[in-house]
Amino acid sequence: MNKIYAQAPLPFQGQKRRFLKPFKEALKANYSKNYIFIDLFGGSGLLSQWCRECFQNATIVYNDFDNYSQRVANTERTNVLLNIIRDLVKDCAQDKLIPKPIKESILKIIKTEEMASGFVDYITLSSSLLFSMKYVTNYDQLAKETMYNVVRKNNYENAADYLQGVDIVHQDYRELFNRWKHLDNVVFLVDPPYLSTDCSTYSSYWRLSNYLDVLQTLQGTNYFYFTSNKSSLLELTDWMERNMNAKNPFSGANKVEMNVRMNHNSGYVDIMLWKKKCSL
Ligand SMILES: C[S@@+](CC[C@H](N)C(=O)[O-])C[C@H]1O[C@@H](n2cnc3c(N)ncnc32)[C@H](O)[C@@H]1O
Repeated sequence: MNKIYAQAPLPFQGQKRRFLKPFKEALKANYSKNYIFIDLFGGSGLLSQWCRECFQNATIVYNDFDNYSQRVANTERTNVLLNIIRDLVKDCAQDKLIPKPIKESILKIIKTEEMASGFVDYITLSSSLLFSMKYVTNYDQLAKETMYNVVRKNNYENAADYLQGVDIVHQDYRELFNRWKHLDNVVFLVDPPYLSTDCSTYSSYWRLSNYLDVLQTLQGTNYFYFTSNKSSLLELTDWMERNMNAKNPFSGANKVEMNVRMNHNSGYVDIMLWKKKCSL
């Protein structure tokens, strides 16, 4: 029996772990192995992994736009680096600033590793060296940051079975959508970068028109769409429907909301909308 993943094996900003239960429930109640699941904005691949856990024999396509699977494949290499870093910071106070000489030593071993193997998982290292929620994607960015001793105590687990049997592609979501949109038994998983959130670890810049373009993937398709109340997209589509007679891709969709608390007085609502076009 393969491992069940409640969250992605390595850090990924924006992974949908909060939707584990409602997503799997909706999948199991409405779909089967006869459907094809296309994860247009795969990110960490968690949604694809859950589809695999629900339907062993279904076709699942994970769009790995950020090369997350390369990070997972290099977990052991990242663990080795973390072991060395743990040793370097062993006398530094927990959660406190890492003094400059130790920071220099850390940078040196990271540089050496990059030169030797050509790969360093900067995003995973960020979560052990930088202030909470701060991520970098290359050496120069890391060198500029203040480092803190938030080094993870345990190694990351080997995740060789993560996304096993899932087809991995790396392409723009429009290309992938066009490839599959003609089939009736396709379910699109649509989780674009959020409007008004920090997408610094993703590899592209998004503006309002880009978010609106994505809505075309929801017109007349089976879909799961993810957004939050920080984006006003639902308000906008609702207004356009009422005042401009525009088609609202969300009308009739099922909606699941999750409250996310950031601290005492701030938070937001994560939203999953899903719609099924027809039964096979
Ligand atoms: C909110 S994240 C997806 C999170 C994912 N569902 C998870 O659970 O980990 C959005 C992803 O879309 C990717 N992305 C950005 N532009 C894209 C494009 N043009 N085509 C496909 N993916 C894109 C980002 O790099 C990021 O990985």
